[in-house]
Amino acid sequence: MAMKQTLTTIIAISVVSAAHAAGGSVERGAYLVSIMDCAGCHSGRAPDGAPDPDAYLAGGALGFELPGLGVFWPPNLTPDVETGLGAWSDEEIVDAIRAGMRPDGRTLAPIMPWESYSVLTDSDAADLVAYLRALPPVRRATPPPVPTGGTAGAPYFAVAMPN
Ligand code: HEC
Repeated sequence: MAMKQTLTTIIAISVVSAAHAAGGSVERGAYLVSIMDCAGCHSGRAPDGAPDPDAYLAGGALGFELPGLGVFWPPNLTPDVETGLGAWSDEEIVDAIRAGMRPDGRTLAPIMPWESYSVLTDSDAADLVAYLRALPPVRRATPPPVPTGGTAGAPYFAVAMPN
């Protein structure tokens, strides 16, 4: 029994240090993702609005209309190479979260709260990335943004002005 516990402890410690070796703490990244509500926007949902466990952080079901700017869907953050962040470097992910800068040079719409996230420390950013990298990859594409008045590829939240 004591032997089993010791082994379990050793295994747990090596998993944690492997996560640190990759540059950040997966465990603390999970905590940050939950309090920063990434999943509130970036996760898929069933038609009744219930979170879809197979689409956790794999792209939001609902886009956001920003009047005058367009409609933006929260993309897939899992490590899938084609539809997620699998081909992005750690620096590219951190630049998107803290500066709203995509690798192609486009600035992310401010509904992605990068202006608030700009104060994240390097260590917190590394923990977030470590957690996103540890997610199971899910192949799931969200529509690209469309300009105001364009044809939306999926449902979205719209702003109604009072009469
Ligand atoms: C209020 C909703 C919302 C929250 C909360 C949010 N995001 Fe986003 N995020 C978006 C939207 C919408 C986009 C797409 C914006 C665009 O295309 O201009 C986006 C884009 C991104 C991108 C760029 C992905 C790409 O393919 O272009 C990354 C990376 C990202 N978010 C990570 C995060 C992380 C990590 C968190 C939590 C720390 C988070 N987001 C929280 C809505 C949100």
